[in-house]
Amino acid sequence: MADDALVIFTPSGKRGRVALGTPVLTAARQLGVDLDSVCGGRGICSKCQVSPGLGEFPKHGLTVAEGALSGRNAVEDRYDRVRGLQPGRRLGCQAQILGDVVIDVPPESQVHKQVVRKRAEAREIVMSPAVRLLYVEVQEPDMHEPSGDAERLAQALETQWGLKGARCGFAVLQGLQPILRKGGWKVTCAVHQVAEGSEPRILQVWPGFHEGRVTGLAVDLGSTTIAGHLCDLASGEVLASSGLMNPQIRFGEDLMSRVSYSMMNPGGAAEMTRAVREGMNRLIAEIAAEAGEDPRDILDAVVVCNPVMHHLFLGIDPFELGQAPFALATSDAVNVRARDLDLTLHPAASVYLLPCIAGHVGADAAAVTLSEAPEKSADLVLVVDVGTNAEIQLGDRTGGVLACSSPTGPAFEGAQISAGQRAAPGAIERVEIDPVTKDPRYKVIGCDLWSDEDGFEAAVAETGVTGICGSGIIEMVAEMRMAGILDASGLIGSPEQTGTERCFLDGRTYSYRVREAGEDGRGITVTNRDIREIQMAKAALYSGARLLMDKRGTDTVDRVVLAGAFGAHISPKHAMVLGMIPDCALDKVVSAGNAAGTGARIALLNREARAEIEATVREIRKVETAVEPRFQEHFVNASAIPNAVEPFPILGTVVTLPDVSFNTGGESGSGEGGRRRRRR
Ligand code: FES
Repeated sequence: MADDALVIFTPSGKRGRVALGTPVLTAARQLGVDLDSVCGGRGICSKCQVSPGLGEFPKHGLTVAEGALSGRNAVEDRYDRVRGLQPGRRLGCQAQILGDVVIDVPPESQVHKQVVRKRAEAREIVMSPAVRLLYVEVQEPDMHEPSGDAERLAQALETQWGLKGARCGFAVLQGLQPILRKGGWKVTCAVHQVAEGSEPRILQVWPGFHEGRVTGLAVDLGSTTIAGHLCDLASGEVLASSGLMNPQIRFGEDLMSRVSYSMMNPGGAAEMTRAVREGMNRLIAEIAAEAGEDPRDILDAVVVCNPVMHHLFLGIDPFELGQAPFALATSDAVNVRARDLDLTLHPAASVYLLPCIAGHVGADAAAVTLSEAPEKSADLVLVVDVGTNAEIQLGDRTGGVLACSSPTGPAFEGAQISAGQRAAPGAIERVEIDPVTKDPRYKVIGCDLWSDEDGFEAAVAETGVTGICGSGIIEMVAEMRMAGILDASGLIGSPEQTGTERCFLDGRTYSYRVREAGEDGRGITVTNRDIREIQMAKAALYSGARLLMDKRGTDTVDRVVLAGAFGAHISPKHAMVLGMIPDCALDKVVSAGNAAGTGARIALLNREARAEIEATVREIRKVETAVEPRFQEHFVNASAIPNAVEPFPILGTVVTLPDVSFNTGGESGSGEGGRRRRRR
């Protein structure tokens, strides 16, 4: 009879022969199979659960007979009694291999388990956090071989887990001795290790086996809002998510006004640093309360933000970012202790900030790169994160990635638009205009009915129809263009030219009435000035993208990814009619949601991803739009709707734009009828 057996692990398909009597966990390690363990095979943690198969496995050419594994032992019986073991499950550290066998490792027993993402085209998230729990049995002190408790703990981590040179932080050292004795020299350590082979840091020690979970925080620190996810560092599960307004808003809505606040007020930068850290601590408290966790138990954190927020959060004066050549204090990733940032996390917790790409393209853009992985894309992808600045990346796996930032201004957020507002209940978010009657129908946030459906007025009675949000204004302008109310140069026509009384003379130009004034006296109108603001914003965005396409030597892109909360609500067709994004098949324009937040979560859950994004960012070619002469040229062309020179052939197969011109001519010859002030 053979003294070894064939073992095949699924789903990995890894196989090999092991000596009879080998525990499944040991076999898994020998064959490089990903099977979890916190207790090191002592039958305590139950992380090593497997499902052995019985019967015929034609795919593997194997018949697994009864008795291929040892019978359930007392440890498994006890575990089943106390905690319950699912039928068919065994503890991998207890079950021994006695014959040829096929063993399935369920997803929850894999160390590097995959966290499910909704979008197939985005990168996978594989669990490999910087902080993990390890159970060890520590040698008791011995008069004949004197050594410190901390040194014997480090020795135990090395012999039992292969972790060399683990060090206790000062706070851990202060409490270590009673914990070791309370646990009978058996303890669980939370160990932080930035990368394989780097120095491990013991963050906390619990007596015996620690049942609790370890958590980490991923934060997208924006200039307007701060949003965070509290994650379980073993499963990757998001335990709670929360967001709040960035308290720095009181120092200025946009970033440059905050930079000027710091320039003009002695101590202004420090004041803003205090404000943002207070905001972070409020978020931490809220999110921990929602998950029923103590904020002091959060052991790791990742923060992504734009360069100005990055500096202010770290306590660095953003002065240099307010003037050319926009030098960052550091573009590298930053690893810092939470306590150095006055954050109320675990006292030994670390905070990791992703690298910045350039003076205008921050760690938030790097997080978008991490989430969307343009450098790994088989097709040429344009990734656009739309905000007050648009951060634009273009790339694929053969040609590398180019990045720039383009000053779109706040128009897409509803600012500087006469009826504009933030996305909130009552804001128009969807629009359709009948090309014959030129009448609009619309939907507002908080109501599922269209405005021409029965019951709409009653449904919106409470919120009212209060304005138009960013995605709504994009649809509105595009629909006006498609319905022939607006010409390519951005002029709204007169009632005679458009055939609708909804267009009316409003000063020197025409406006389009969307909604009559109600009892509250507020109607909703789109003015020619509003159109102009949107033209500016979309021209800035398009020119940035076009500039990157020039640098890449292409006139087309295969795919467009719209990132950011706003991007999630943009209709691809309307964005293209507007000429905001390059011509592309509509089904190839997708929304990535909050890709920066997802990137932060990836970096939190996978330490290798940190090293990877640091290397990727170094390879990204930055393009500074301000010094590129062609940017202006593209901007002028892109001011037309959709564009004065670009043909948009794919869009042409989906939409026919009316060939109208409302320029009455003779006044300026500018194509604008001389009726609009020039803004450039
Ligand atoms: Fe912990 Fe098996 S490894 S119970």
